[in-house]
Formats: sequence, structure tokens, C-alpha cells
Amino acid sequence: MAHLLHYLLLLLIVTYSCAAQTSFRPKALILPVTKDSSTRQYVTRINQRTPLVPVSLTLDLGGQFMWANCYTNYISSTYRPARCRSAQCSLAKSTACSVECPGAPKPGCNNNTCALMPDNTVTRTATIGDLGSDLVTIQSTDGSNPGRVVSVPKFLFVCGSALDGLASGVVGMAGLGRTSISLPSQFASAFSFHRIFAICLTSSSISPGVVFFGDGPYRFLLNTDASSNLIYTPLIKNPVSTASAYTEGDASSDYFIGVTSIRVGEKVVPLNKTLLTINREGYGGTKISTVTPYTVLQTMIYKAVIKAFGNALSGVPKVAPIAPFGLCFNSTSLGSTRVGPGVPQIDLVLQNSDVYWRIFGANSMVQVRDDVLCLGFVDGGVDPRTSIVIGGHQIEDNLLQFDLARSRLGFSSSLLFRQTTCGNFNFTSNA
Ligand SMILES: *[C@@H]1O[C@H](CO)[C@@H](O)[C@H](O)[C@H]1NC(C)=O
Ligand SMILES: *[C@@H]1O[C@H](CO)[C@@H](O)[C@H](O)[C@H]1NC(C)=O
Ligand SMILES: *[C@@H]1O[C@H](CO)[C@@H](O)[C@H](O)[C@H]1NC(C)=O
Ligand SMILES: *[C@@H]1O[C@H](CO)[C@@H](O)[C@H](O)[C@H]1NC(C)=O
Repeated sequence: MAHLLHYLLLLLIVTYSCAAQTSFRPKALILPVTKDSSTRQYVTRINQRTPLVPVSLTLDLGGQFMWANCYTNYISSTYRPARCRSAQCSLAKSTACSVECPGAPKPGCNNNTCALMPDNTVTRTATIGDLGSDLVTIQSTDGSNPGRVVSVPKFLFVCGSALDGLASGVVGMAGLGRTSISLPSQFASAFSFHRIFAICLTSSSISPGVVFFGDGPYRFLLNTDASSNLIYTPLIKNPVSTASAYTEGDASSDYFIGVTSIRVGEKVVPLNKTLLTINREGYGGTKISTVTPYTVLQTMIYKAVIKAFGNALSGVPKVAPIAPFGLCFNSTSLGSTRVGPGVPQIDLVLQNSDVYWRIFGANSMVQVRDDVLCLGFVDGGVDPRTSIVIGGHQIEDNLLQFDLARSRLGFSSSLLFRQTTCGNFNFTSNA
């Protein structure tokens, strides 16, 4: 009986939200993003298929599109393959066509379907998979609370199977990258809002962070609008794809910014500037990544930063480094501030010396043991593809807004200064 009632209620809710939708156009949408403590991945959940099921996906800021395993347990009456040479295939810039799939047709196996290369950017494994579409539903927001659920009937995604290395329960990745079929692009075109989205990653294993699709306000308890007072810097295009596998001529779907120098405690760190620019082969430069737990620096940059940081904290006893970190301190000798351990600030200087991304203790230091704090940067080797990859720990509790139309990044710096965190979005619905 309780079951039946529950079912009827669900049916009512579903019917209600469908009926409401015809006249309702959302201003923005939200996805909750939890932090998986064992992999340090940021995991989101989206409802897909008919009947709807929650699908857990690792958030991939620079990822090209949404991909999910559709080879096992994929049941849906609304799945449709994208036929070769269709408008969907050209939007997705797919040039490959799987002419024939032996056997009975099912999601991931259809004749005459265009293919793309879903990329597990954690293990850097690309496979080949069909492009298809299915129903997706997502919560809208007024910027303060979740609102009505809205649906996108033909949301494009790719079938992928490379799940190794992804957090437990995850069946694919949610790509927010610079393409026409990434989640931000598809949502913006489905509801005709500005091509703007924002991420706010939580540092907490309990309270989820949030992705906003659409413009602000983005309000966090107690009533802080994180979309106000942002600092802006241009987004830079890398003309050469940084995906694990790609077709020649593809541009990168990653978001690059122009770091021009680094300061530690207001002092400029001597660096080889060539590494900070993107060369013709697409090497170098600075990108932001949600699948890299800690910022990765090319060896020469890494050594210079570690040295400068160690010098600036010469009065604090160092302890033997704990991998993957190379510089650790006895935390009992470090004070604490509103924005984390009291350590020198690290500035990523951008288009001019007055525009910088300031990293405070909460984002620079990692508590590895009770009395050990390490500088949370890791050595990326002498010839990495990208010289600086700003990782998850450095962006937690900072709001980053990507404005694709204006090609700029707006960043808030640490929300801890404003006495809030990314885990403070009020997910209690008022609809
Ligand atoms: C593809 O076409 C072949 C030949 O017509 C057919 O035997 C096969 O069952 C089809 N496969 C799918 C998945 O539709
Ligand atoms: C600076 O980096 C570039 C690119 O890796 C390298 O070719 C060059 O030799 C470096 N210059 C110095 C002085 O180390
Ligand atoms: C840190 O310093 C305290 C106080 O001097 C000491 O008791 C502790 O053993 C030190 N910890 C490490 C890891 O060196
Ligand atoms: C969160 O939102 C709900 C619904 O609007 C509201 O009732 C509640 O007071 C809010 N919580 C806080 C802490 O403001």
C-alpha cells in the first residue's frame, strides 16, 4: 500500500512537472557535486532515460561531452542513435560512421550511427563509442534554491566503457568543455540562456558543491552571492587537442588561462616564461582541471615554487616529504587563519600584475597527517603536455564562472573570506 501511494505520488509529481514545463523557462540549472574521498574525484548525478534513473558521472571540466556506459544495464525507451550525416553528428563534429553493428540493435550498437571517442581523462584511455540521445532531467534554480525539474528530451551523449579508475558507482563522465555538445552548450541551447556556467567544488566529504548552468546570482548560505565581485581573465584557446585521442586539426576542449608569472609571498618566482605560453604543437600553458586532484607543475616551475615557498617559511621546521608532495612542514608551528593555515600566499599572475589568482593556505596546503602539512603541488615531469594544471584542491571553495560567449573566466578567490563555502548551497527545494 505504501508502495502504491509512493508510486502514485511520483506519477503526480512527474505529470505535474511535465505539464508545468510548457510555460516555464528556467533562468539557470543546477547539479549537485559530491567529493569522492577515496579517488578525490568530483561526482555529479543526473537523471536520464525512460524510466528515469540517476546516473553518477565524474565531473570533467575540460571534457568534450557526456559519456556513459550504455553496454550494461541501459534500459530506456527514449534512447535514439544519431544517424551518420545527421545534424546531430555534424553538431558533435563526428566524422566517423559505424556502418554496421552485428547483432540486434540496442544502445551502443546500431547500424549507420556516428561515433566519437569518449575519453576517460583520469586514466587517459579513449575508446570508440556511438553518439546517441536520450531524455535528461535537471533541476532549475533561482540562484538560491532548487526549483522545478525541467527536461531535455534529446540530450546528446556518447557510449563509453572505460570505467577503470573512476569513483565507485560512477558510469561515465560529465564533460563541461569547450565544444558544442558539452553539458553547458546543450543546456544553454535547450533553454536559450547565455553560454555561461559556474563550478563551485566542495572541500567537504559531507556537503555537496554545485555546478550552475546559466548566469548568476549564485547564492550560498548565508546569502552570499558568489557571482558578485568576480575577477576576470581571458580564456585562451589551445589550437591542438589535449584529449587522450583525437583527430588532427581538433582544438582542445580544455579551459586555458594566461598565467604570466608566479609570486610567493609577493615575491616573483624566477621562471622560464616559454613554458607559460602554448606553442604550435599545443604544449605548455596553464589549464584548469577537475580530474587532477592537486596542481601539477612542470619540473622547473615546480622546483622554483617549492624553493621560494620553503625560503618564505624558513622559520618553520620542515619534516620528511610525504609523496606525492615534495615540501612538508610540522603543522604545530604554523598558525591558522580564516582562509586556512597561515602560510605565504601564492599568486598566479594573469594579464597584468594587478590581476592575479591568489591561493591561500586552505587551497595551497594539504593536511597529510595530524601534525604534517604539505604544499599541495606535484611535479609533472620535464616535458608535460601542459606546464601548469590547476587541480581540484586549489579550486575548492572558489567559484569559477566560465563565460563562453565572452571567452572569459570569472573567479571569486576563496569564499572562506566571505564566511561561506561551496558546500553551502541550499539544496532544500522551495518549489
Ligand atoms: C545491421 O544491418 C545488418 C544487415 O542489414 C543486420 O543483419 C543487422 O542485424 C543490423 N544490426 C543492427 C544492430 O541493427
Ligand atoms: C625554457 O623552456 C623551453 C621549453 O621547454 C626550452 O626549450 C628552453 O631551453 C628553456 N630555457 C631555459 C633557459 O631553460
Ligand atoms: C612537530 O613538533 C612537535 C612539537 O615540537 C613535536 O612533538 C612533533 O613530534 C613534531 N612532529 C613531526 C612530524 O615532526
Ligand atoms: C533553505 O531553503 C529553504 C527553502 O527555501 C528554507 O526554508 C530554509 O530556511 C533555507 N535554509 C537556510 C539555512 O536558510
